[in-house]
Amino acid sequence: MVQPLEGLDVGALSEGEARAELARLAPMLLAANQAYHTHDAPKMPDADYDSLKRRNLAIEARFPHLKRSDSPSEQVGAAVADGFSKVAHEVRMLSLENAFDAADITDFVDRVRKYLGHTGPLAFTAEPKIDGLSLSLRYEKGKLVQAATRGDGEVGENVTENARTISDIPHSLIDAPEVLEVRGEVYMSLADFQALNARQEQRGGKTFANPRNAAAGSLRQLDANITASRPLRFFAYAWGACSTPLADSQMTAMNRLASLGFQTNPLTRLCDSAEDLLAHYASIEVQRASLGYDIDGVVYKVDDLALQRRLGFRSTTPRWAIAHKFPAELAWTRLLAIDIQVGRTGVLSPVARLEPVTVGGVVVSNATLHNEDYIQGRDSKGAPIREGKDIRVGDLVQVYRAGDVIPKIADVDLSQRPDEAQPYEFPALCPECNSPAQREEGDAARRCAGGLICPAQAVERLRHFVSRAGFDIEGLGAKQVEAFYRDGWIATPADIFTLKARFGTGVQQLKNREGWGVKSAENLFDAIDEKRKISLNRLIFALGIRHVGESSASLLANRYSTWAAFEMAMTHAKIGEGTAWAELLAIDGVGVVLAASVITTFQNERERAAIDALVAALEVQPSIARAPLDSPVAGKTVVFTGTLEKMTRAEAKARAESLGAKVSGSVSAKTDLLVAGPGAGSKAKAAAALGVEILDEDGWLALIGTA
Ligand code: IVH
Repeated sequence: MVQPLEGLDVGALSEGEARAELARLAPMLLAANQAYHTHDAPKMPDADYDSLKRRNLAIEARFPHLKRSDSPSEQVGAAVADGFSKVAHEVRMLSLENAFDAADITDFVDRVRKYLGHTGPLAFTAEPKIDGLSLSLRYEKGKLVQAATRGDGEVGENVTENARTISDIPHSLIDAPEVLEVRGEVYMSLADFQALNARQEQRGGKTFANPRNAAAGSLRQLDANITASRPLRFFAYAWGACSTPLADSQMTAMNRLASLGFQTNPLTRLCDSAEDLLAHYASIEVQRASLGYDIDGVVYKVDDLALQRRLGFRSTTPRWAIAHKFPAELAWTRLLAIDIQVGRTGVLSPVARLEPVTVGGVVVSNATLHNEDYIQGRDSKGAPIREGKDIRVGDLVQVYRAGDVIPKIADVDLSQRPDEAQPYEFPALCPECNSPAQREEGDAARRCAGGLICPAQAVERLRHFVSRAGFDIEGLGAKQVEAFYRDGWIATPADIFTLKARFGTGVQQLKNREGWGVKSAENLFDAIDEKRKISLNRLIFALGIRHVGESSASLLANRYSTWAAFEMAMTHAKIGEGTAWAELLAIDGVGVVLAASVITTFQNERERAAIDALVAALEVQPSIARAPLDSPVAGKTVVFTGTLEKMTRAEAKARAESLGAKVSGSVSAKTDLLVAGPGAGSKAKAAAALGVEILDEDGWLALIGTA
């Protein structure tokens, strides 16, 4: 945890001490601010952040002439990221499914085979997973015209000028497709990272926690001259839009990128089985320490691009690739305290406060303890974990972290337990609002029953509401909504949209707040107004309904298309019965738990009032399915029956859905098309009786254009 130099009262500081203290606080606060806003990964508890910020302000007030040019009191929210224009990716930038052990890999290979119905030889590429940040480079007629970060996968930041300063990135290509988007990872070598940190330290500038943060911080500079002074590198490993195919296999495409002048990773190999992939993984793991740059796993990709196309994508990850992550890194340290945080859905989460320890190059001072069973040494079914050892304040505990995942406590050393250590008693009342914190049958979590009256839940909901996948209002990040909530300016999302009207001279009020000026206040109200027009999927996600994440929000939005239809269905649906319930469950990816959670939320009076007030301030845009509008099957209900010979059932269904069709398991008056393979029986008869159009597999493939 951060030590705010206790005992050194601001009033007692000499000028020299004040200067030193401002120099110490600036990088600390800027890093915390950036971690919070730009990387969504807070590095210190908010209370510590606030107290350091207040201390900084108090010193500046006492010694105004010592105020630094990079003073943290001038920083508002995500200022670092605000200056870039946005770029909509022509082809989405996806992430990868993660695998952690050999069984996951055999499972991946089996799944690919099963999906394709493929029994013959099947090749995969295996290459290091570079621990940097992904970048998409767009070339038109061989010229680099745009570089964009991944952002949320759909819209990234325009960092073209910065990318041009990276020597691994060619400015022009010879013999390239007319339009080509090359994708890869920007990273910093370990030696360059250490040298950069040493330089920064010498100059009293900000240092970076690890090479990935250094690469991200260096690329996302508003001043491209700063990026130019930072030694960034780039490995190409994929592509987005491409006007003519690069090649017909992943490996030959990589070779083509290499011949166009890109760096590709020399440890890329072609493998033909799970065993082969695992052998290459083991060999990369051995070389990891001597590579000179950070990697956090090995990526496997189906080599044949025609097969990649057939496999396609889930909502955010391709079916044809997987990231096999390296095992977590470990360290031992003392558990200083257990704090309880109350989340958006009321869950009481125990957080371990630790004596700071370096785990794989990152200083860790907090870790999750999951739930009360976990602390007591039991899993959700009551079986012992850690041989049943409980965790107590004062214990020597083992911390582990894997990639970006929140650090966890894995083990405890009983031989080091202090005599006075007491078993931890999990609170039965919410520490924030004193409401009872109950456990439902079968639920590992204890939940605060306070709902919207619980300040912690209300704040977390607001933070979720403005998050990047939610309303993403420029200038209104988690920190700001929290401060506005504390001051009574907003209590629910609807209040954000009435803020200006309620204040009348909202700008006047806001500009008097610390860190705000007239311009930033005006910008904020403009940004809020801009988000009154919101897509249905973002709105559903932003409501923060338990179990509804980004991809399930999109599934719901695509199914109901408009807010009116969605709201009507949820208002009248009954859990466990009726057509509205059946319709919800018919959505591929929506299960009983999620469906019940949405209905419960819509039928809870208080929740409903908050939702209605919010929607009254918005103009909700209907959901437009991703499928091309000219798809001949868009909006049609299709049923597959009998044996399919050229594709598996899963593939047929996924392909039809990606073209905007609804796939149903049974024939009814709503069916538009029956695709019948050999052996079709009762469904074909029912379809014929209803006059539904019937096609064989070839007819279907001809219709969708892949015969
Ligand atoms: S392929 C459609 N290959 O890992 C899939 N990604 O965790 C495109 N990454 O967002 C990604 N090394 O930023 C691919 N050799 C590699 C990679 C790699 C690093 C990153 C990439 C991606 C993230 C997913």
